[in-house]
Amino acid sequence: MSTYQGLEILFTREQIAERIKEMGKQITHDLEGEKLVMIGVLKGAAPFLADLARAVTVDTTFDFVAVSSYGKSNRTSGAVKLIKDLDEPIEGKNVLIVEDILDTGLTLTYLRKIFLQHHPKSLRIAALLDKPSRRIEKIEADYVGFSIPNLFVIGFGMDYAERYRNLPDICLMPPDAQ
Ligand code: IMP
Repeated sequence: MSTYQGLEILFTREQIAERIKEMGKQITHDLEGEKLVMIGVLKGAAPFLADLARAVTVDTTFDFVAVSSYGKSNRTSGAVKLIKDLDEPIEGKNVLIVEDILDTGLTLTYLRKIFLQHHPKSLRIAALLDKPSRRIEKIEADYVGFSIPNLFVIGFGMDYAERYRNLPDICLMPPDAQ
């Protein structure tokens, strides 16, 4: 396995770029001739949204929400709270929620529920990573970059206690650094 700054790489920047291009093609195909609002979940989804948005050719705008997260530990508290709401109404629009990882599913289940209350024309989910074995809520993404086992990952937007988001590759969190 290759490393970056001493960290084991799970997916290289090249593998990520290739997969996001494929996801963009699929989304473009599914939304041909439609308008799209990509809603990024701050902060982890920012690099993924930036690349995914440039991989679609449909007429696309962005919005962002922020939810309470794991904070300074990697354990979920179970409670999700919206700490930054949408800037623009999504009623009648094609919405794509863009998230870094679908883990327990608590975050996306909560966001899906509140967005559906705004009556979008359609609502889809894109997750760069999926950890199906960790699921608590019954929810699946429409577009998944990579499905992974129960590993804690960092980089390409994903953090441990707010660090490592700027790693260009998706790396494994070393157990001794937790
Ligand atoms: P869920 O609500 O449990 O599905 O969690 C989703 C959020 O948990 C993600 O957006 C991440 O912020 C965080 N998360 C889950 N697994 C990891 C990981 O392996 N590394 C970094 N953040 C993670």
